[in-house]
Order: sequence, then C-alpha cells, then structure tokens
Amino acid sequence: MKVLVTGGLGFIGSHTCVSLIENGFDVVIIDNLYNSKEVVLDRIETITGVRPTFYKKDVQDLESLREIFKKEHFDAIIHFAGYKAVGESVKKPLMYYENNLESTFALLKCMEEFDVKNFVFSSSATVYGLPDKVPLTEDSPVKSATSPYGETKVMIERILTDIGNVHKDWNIALLRYFNPIGAHKSGLLGEDPNGIPNNLLPYINKVAIGLLPKVNVFGNDYPTPDGTGVRDYIHVVDLAYGHVLALKKLSTNPGLVIYNLGTGKGTSVLEVIKAYEKATGVKINYVICPRRDGDVPENYASTTKAEKELGFKCKYNIEDACRDGYNFQKAEFERQNNK
Ligand code: WQD
Repeated sequence: MKVLVTGGLGFIGSHTCVSLIENGFDVVIIDNLYNSKEVVLDRIETITGVRPTFYKKDVQDLESLREIFKKEHFDAIIHFAGYKAVGESVKKPLMYYENNLESTFALLKCMEEFDVKNFVFSSSATVYGLPDKVPLTEDSPVKSATSPYGETKVMIERILTDIGNVHKDWNIALLRYFNPIGAHKSGLLGEDPNGIPNNLLPYINKVAIGLLPKVNVFGNDYPTPDGTGVRDYIHVVDLAYGHVLALKKLSTNPGLVIYNLGTGKGTSVLEVIKAYEKATGVKINYVICPRRDGDVPENYASTTKAEKELGFKCKYNIEDACRDGYNFQKAEFERQNNK
C-alpha cells in the first residue's frame, strides 16, 4: 500500500514514516522544509534501511501535486503539513488560514482527480477548546478553538466531514492528538524547535542540557491536584503507530471516523518535571510564574474508542518519553556543534 505523507520530515511525520515502513507500507514524502530538515530523510533510512521517495514541494502547489499524483498512484494520504505554532497563529492569522486550508484543498482536489479514497488528518485535542469535563471523548463538543491554529483544525475537520458526506466511497480518519512528546530511541528523530520553545517538554530538554536556566511554570493556582496544568502526554512513537492502525481501519471502508490519540492519563507540570528528573538523573530548576493566556486547567483523553476500534494502546509512559526526548536533545546538540 503506497501512502503519501505530507510534512513527513517533521516531528510527528518522521516518526510516522518510520512506523509505516516498519509495518510494510510504501512511503512517499512531500515536505517544503519550512519546519523540518532534509537530513531527516537520511535518518529515516538509517533507522529502517528504506529511503522514502521525497519531493521538496509545497502542498499548496496544485500543479506540482498533480504531477506527483499522476506518477505515484497513492492508495492513501496522511496529512501532517501545516503551520502549528499557537502563539504565532494569533499574530499571523492570514498566513495560518491560507497555508493550512489551501494545502488541504489542493490534496482533496487531487484525491478527486486521481481517485484516491483514503485520508488521515492530523487533528488536535485543541478542537475541544475549554473542556466542559474530562476525560474528553470523541463525542465531547467541538468548540471554536482558542487560536487561529486551532481554528484551522476545526475548519478542516468540518470540510472533511462535508466532503465525506458527498464521497460515500471515501474513508477519512480524524486523529485528535493530545500532547505528543519524546523521541525515537535511536536519538536520530525528535523535536528540536528553533529559538525558545513554546511547549513544555522541548523547553525542559533545553534546560536539561544547559541551554536555558530554568523552567517557567505557568501558574500553580489551577483547580488541579498540585495547582499546575494537567495534560495528556503521549509518546510520539505510540502516536506514530496510531496512524498505522488508522490506515488499517480505513481499509475496512468505515467512512469517516474520529479518534482521540492520548494515554488517557493526565499529568501535571510538576509531575512532568519530577518524572523527567527521575528518568534522566538531571536536576530541572523551575520557578512558578503567572498563568499563560489561553491555557486550560486540565485536558486529557478518553482512549476507550481508539482501544476498542483500532486496538490502540500506548506502550510507553511519561518517563520513557522524558528519557527519549533528553537523549535526542543531547545527541542533536552534539551533532549541531560538531559540524
Ligand atoms: C503544556 C503545559 C502549560 C510551557 C500545545 C498546543 C496544542 C497541541 C499540543 C498541536 C501547560 C505548561 C508550558 C512552559 C509551562 N499542539 N507550560 N511552561 O499548550 O497543552 O498544547 O501543544 O496540536 O495545540 O497548544 O502544550 O506544552 O505548551 O503546555 O508551565 O514553558 O505546560 O501551561 O499546562 P499545550 P504546552
């Protein structure tokens, strides 16, 4: 089965390509390298022994896309490509709406023109907005998101739902990720954002290797056990395998399906720091700061549906993810400083 992976050199995309190859899929990657590096292709090959076909193209480029679809004859698409920085999206909404929506439209047009019927969309728990209650199930209400980034996920889910109602022979999986963290155990794949990380684990990774002095804990006055924010942190390797299971589900012609991909467990910021120190042996200094605008107190998944319908079950826990993320950060820092 030949799968197009857009954004396949990114953090989640690259781990998913490894999992797809390990499970016997043929992988083709389209990535414009806006938020990724071409060297990741070498690393996928090092890990799997297979070098995916790669096109350095922008998914919005419909003519290039048509050439690729004409040549490759895809059986399915996994669509990761898109801008994903929440804070940046608030400052640059037009850039986010244009890029994330136009790239999706181009793919959907090619699906119609080249008779591709299977589509997996990289969605996000952010579509639930401020939860009424946790754990969140797939029936929890989708709300207008707290950022233009989140809103693009809400809109694309709606577009896919409407198109799915027309193309009765299409199979579409909306995968709502919670908080992906960690890295591949080889230390070759992981998340290494440029500049000061917005997200917790990449920030802790940089504190752990001495690039940043301490973690700013955004608020300890939330209605949670220790007052700090609670999230569902899922190891990126578990998340990647969830895409393999979703593709297998689509081969049973289910139409449009929706799954939360999380661990089903909430972990607070202070618990993450404690787990990180235990997993790595590195002391992580922190200071309590005011809350960050837009943060919700608690957000974690019900995994019942994904377990029942996909057979999805996380293999790794928060300490595994902290250890693997730290190992990747150390290795990446050494690679970049030994060039
Ligand atoms: C986690 C917790 C913070 C940084 C984001 C996106 C979401 C999704 C997942 C794509 C919160 C606290 C954080 C720091 C802190 N991405 N924190 N100090 O906000 O849950 O979700 O990533 O789909 O769309 O919004 O993740 O890692 O930023 O925050 O105390 O320096 O850590 O308050 O409680 P978030 P996060």
